[in-house]
Amino acid sequence: MSPGGAATPHERAAASVATHPAPVKMVLDCDTGVDDTLAILYAALHPAVDLLGVGSVWGNVDLETATRNCLHTVHLAGRPDVPVARGADRPLLQTDAVFAYHVHGDDGQGNAGTGRVVGEPVAGSAAEQMVRLAGAHPGEVEIVAVGPLTNVALALGLCPELPSLVRGITIMGGAALAPGNVTEVAEANIWCDPDAAAAVFQAAWTVTMVGLDVTMLTTLDDGHRARLAAGGTLGRYVAGILDHYIGYFAAASFGERRSCMHDALAVAVAAGTLVPEVAPLVRAYVSTEGRTRGQTVCDLRGMYMGYPEQEGARCQPVLRTDPAFADEVVDLLVAAGDAALPVTPVDGPPAPAASAAGPASSSQEHA
Ligand code: BDR
Ligand code: CA
Repeated sequence: MSPGGAATPHERAAASVATHPAPVKMVLDCDTGVDDTLAILYAALHPAVDLLGVGSVWGNVDLETATRNCLHTVHLAGRPDVPVARGADRPLLQTDAVFAYHVHGDDGQGNAGTGRVVGEPVAGSAAEQMVRLAGAHPGEVEIVAVGPLTNVALALGLCPELPSLVRGITIMGGAALAPGNVTEVAEANIWCDPDAAAAVFQAAWTVTMVGLDVTMLTTLDDGHRARLAAGGTLGRYVAGILDHYIGYFAAASFGERRSCMHDALAVAVAAGTLVPEVAPLVRAYVSTEGRTRGQTVCDLRGMYMGYPEQEGARCQPVLRTDPAFADEVVDLLVAAGDAALPVTPVDGPPAPAASAAGPASSSQEHA
């Protein structure tokens, strides 16, 4: 209950779905653009998730914008208790950060954000927070990374035993059989920082890879937006930020007004609320060189034999999920009702984004 006694968005959302006796403790790492916002809302609102912390990372937008959007989103969900830590502002080894404002809008919220700056990031980096929260709950924390893997690679550098401390790691990233969305073969989160991704794939854990194979096939359209807009102010906000995003995908990918959902799928797979229909355990590596830089190369040669066991297999690319998951996300956001913050834009100019100080920037072709 809120201090005034009214139900919170979290309580309303929780009441709308089946109970989950043991929510998954989660640390979510995001480059908060539009689809990351949905992922944070899902994690903050769904009772199957115990959201311990959020880390921001450069990617769709510069780090300051991503951090501001992470904070704004947890506050919208009525979850100011969720700590947000600021992460890396550029890739591990490259000097240039390449952003995707053309996909996510200058504010990372489809140019439809409120411009409201709420809350403060906690002390310490996102990588430090990841390590600290994993250490506080050994064997229980699922890391869910839905942006470039820079923070996760930094966390592995700080704590090489991190893989044995966590329950697992799930990423939105990569493409096992699907084409890439930045190059012919590279997906944006991996392409942004292939060196970090390679370190994460090489570490001693199994990476659940929720990539373009499934995230391009779970889509949101104007029908979903209409349902969201008819809900409370939270749904109205999400319908607003999706407009520009859907417009981008209409032109770049689908030829009609719909967008992929991407990041929320990784949260749901990690939480067990979206059960993969096909997800073989296979060997995989990230290409860091030449024309295929950023490609996730998965050994799927066992496909025609039902994926027999492979020695050294430590990646689970998710190859099929139910596209109807999009409706579940919409239902949850509608059930949450009104946001815990006003969703009307604040007066004055929008907060700086594309021109924010930071590493050299240019635009990804797709994301
Ligand atoms: C991924 O790249 C980012 O732009 C999206 O937020 C998503 O995480 C899709 O390739
Ligand atoms: Ca993302």
